[in-house]
Amino acid sequence: MRIDKLLANMNYGSRKEVKKLLKKGLITVNGTPIKDAKKHVNTDSDLIAVAGDEVKYIEHIYLMMNKPGDVISATEDVSHRTVLDLLEEDEAAFSPFPVGRLDKDTEGLLLLTNDGQLTHRLLSPNKHVPKTYFAIVKGRVTATDQQMFSQGVTLDDGYVTKPAELTILVSNERSEIELTITEGKYHQVKRMFEAVDKQVVYLKRIKMGSLCLDENLSLGEYRALNIEELEALEMDSPSH
Ligand code: URA
Repeated sequence: MRIDKLLANMNYGSRKEVKKLLKKGLITVNGTPIKDAKKHVNTDSDLIAVAGDEVKYIEHIYLMMNKPGDVISATEDVSHRTVLDLLEEDEAAFSPFPVGRLDKDTEGLLLLTNDGQLTHRLLSPNKHVPKTYFAIVKGRVTATDQQMFSQGVTLDDGYVTKPAELTILVSNERSEIELTITEGKYHQVKRMFEAVDKQVVYLKRIKMGSLCLDENLSLGEYRALNIEELEALEMDSPSH
């Protein structure tokens, strides 16, 4: 794996920051300072050090992706491209999987990791990790909808949703809103609006727990979480 990718994946900084460390000669492989970010290293046999400290190779990878609306959030599919098809080989080698599902046409924040325990905690209904969506909705979204969402609405299968926070950004025939929900029922946001006779025409997840979508990521792009983001996510879903 390329040394800059390896260290970025291991939270030593962004690829840019790692390049700076390399330039300064702070990174050594088997005792020799390396300046070439493209250098390939073997984590089984090479001893890598940053400013003299040995790098302990980690098994977990945590990526934030800006999911485009034409791939599915699954690990494999016979007929559609999946979010894993967007990963480069070095990240795919860690065998990450998406944390939860977004509909094929939903864009935005998707966490990919191979950390099964964190995934389990983030998706556990008991932890109520909030997820915030931006949506464009056909129809005028009103204070009445806000009120109904705050009390819970009845979906087409009779399920009554938990209280959700609806923020109206633009209210007209094509409204713009943000909605925060603490559960993850199938097509939940779309079905909540159907429950108040409106239709979601565009949906994008912008936040999960305290993790915000990095607006610098174009659709289909991804990056490793930084250490602050990872620690905050761990706090969002404590293991006790
Ligand atoms: N709610 C939906 O309707 N779709 C998604 O992809 C996520 C939440």
